[in-house]
Amino acid sequence: MTKKVIGFSKLSKNEKIEWLVKSYFNNDSNAIVELKKYWNTDEKLQQLHDEFTENTISNFYLPYGVAPNFLINDRYYTIPMVIEESSVVAAASLTAKFWETRGGFKATVINTEKIGQIHFIYKGQKEGLETYFQQKKQDLYDVTAPLTENMKKRGGGILDIELRDKTGSLSDYYQLHITFETKDSMGANFINSCLEAIAKEFENDEIEVIMSILSNYIPNCLVKAEVQCPIGTDEKSISPEFARRFKQAIDIANAEVHRAVTHNKGIMNGIDAVILATGNDFRAVEAGVHAYASKNGNYQSLTHCNIENNTFHFWIEIPLSLGTVGGLTSLHPLSKFSLELLGKPTAKELMKIVAVAGLAQNFAALRALTTTGIQKGHMKMHLTNILKQLNATPEEKTYLLEYFKDKTVTHSAVVKAYEELKK
Ligand code: MEV
Repeated sequence: MTKKVIGFSKLSKNEKIEWLVKSYFNNDSNAIVELKKYWNTDEKLQQLHDEFTENTISNFYLPYGVAPNFLINDRYYTIPMVIEESSVVAAASLTAKFWETRGGFKATVINTEKIGQIHFIYKGQKEGLETYFQQKKQDLYDVTAPLTENMKKRGGGILDIELRDKTGSLSDYYQLHITFETKDSMGANFINSCLEAIAKEFENDEIEVIMSILSNYIPNCLVKAEVQCPIGTDEKSISPEFARRFKQAIDIANAEVHRAVTHNKGIMNGIDAVILATGNDFRAVEAGVHAYASKNGNYQSLTHCNIENNTFHFWIEIPLSLGTVGGLTSLHPLSKFSLELLGKPTAKELMKIVAVAGLAQNFAALRALTTTGIQKGHMKMHLTNILKQLNATPEEKTYLLEYFKDKTVTHSAVVKAYEELKK
């Protein structure tokens, strides 16, 4: 049995599956059945998915959930979330409800500047390079005119082209650091096309361009989301003890990298879920957000908390490069659905919604961790899943959920209690 293949991409979808099943699954026809079970019966829709990427042999489903009642800047949203981790959507919904009664979330876009860079090597005198750059600068704008025409009509385009001396970090290394406004598109293709055109125009016998590519680190494409409420005892407040322990948890994340990573992972549970549901690039967002978490030299919490004048203030500030037009957003039928569900937001509005989803997720995690612990909610979910597997009747479920309220949930303990009940 050989596992090496030549010309795999040229095989038909069925031929690819046949080769895989022969090479890795002992020709087991169940493997073929499994893969085909997830093909869409609507051939056109399946073809659309096949063409998103290469060598597609099936589809990989993830749950698509919604979290209603998010009050953001005085407007209600039902937020779509694509995520497999149980309790994330439930936590989002609970947090939405919690803050809805305390004035809701406020969100503000601070800036929307994207970045692209042309990395090059130049071994001559720096002054000569600076003169050449100044002489050439207008040509660099002009050469992108056909590419930027439409973007300019939408209010975007190239904001600035800057020559940066990076020789302090690496010999002979310079860059053109270029800033862009890409309005409602994420802008990756637009930025990369502009960069390649500029690089061609800029390169000469002394300037060796190594690469031209957008940066996923965009510290000036920033959004802030926040909540605040009085500290007190009435139902629109939170208790002093809760506020104190909550803030302490954030201080710990700022002081300790192991905790900071997990803390931020919880935030990304909310962020990635909305990014996926709206057809945006979660890898780009992940990379940029984590770099931002290290902007002070240490990897720290992306959320912040302040207790002052008897007020609890909790906020997140993160860089997000998102699109609501172009790319997958208009191609994937469910991304389109998500954007419609959100009221066809602009990229700026989507930045606010995504930031709120991250803040809400962190609130839910810290609220659980600093009070009952995280396992209580998780174990309830675990218990429900086991009861589902056991085909428990609604009456049996009610009895066993009550029975396990003050007991530790393990698979064997649940099976045992279920069998006892059956007797
Ligand atoms: C689990 O996916 C996320 C948490 O670990 C986040 C956190 O610890 O803050 C609960």
